[in-house]
Amino acid sequence: MTTKKFLAAALAALACTAAQAQDGAKLYAEKTCVACHGKEGNKPLMAEYPKIAGQNAKYAERQMLDIKSGARANGNTAAMKGVMHLVSDAEIKALSEYLSKLKP
Ligand code: HEC
Repeated sequence: MTTKKFLAAALAALACTAAQAQDGAKLYAEKTCVACHGKEGNKPLMAEYPKIAGQNAKYAERQMLDIKSGARANGNTAAMKGVMHLVSDAEIKALSEYLSKLKP
């Protein structure tokens, strides 16, 4: 088991606690999201990558679940899909709630 996989399992176990929302910030940094979407979610690495700060939590969650499952597959989806194996559905929810609270 890699360190990343171990962390993912440990974080998933923690995700059911009240600490879920605050884990969003930690997950955002640890799961490489920051590399492509920027530190605050509003300065993407490439002009074709989306700004995600302040996005509706439900929308962000749906998009991530669809990218993970393959239901959403655009020209740029491959970049995002490549990291979706790092996050569980509970972590996706926590990340979505965190993103919705960031300033656009
Ligand atoms: C390798 C670059 C990369 C990484 C790492 C990455 N993303 Fe993405 N993300 C993208 C791209 C590119 C898209 C747009 C995909 C498309 O066009 O279908 C996207 C789309 C999204 C969307 C949907 C935005 C919308 O408006 O529909 C959300 C939400 C999102 N990413 C959140 C995250 C989170 C949270 C993480 C960390 C777990 C993450 N991303 C990691 C590149 C990345």
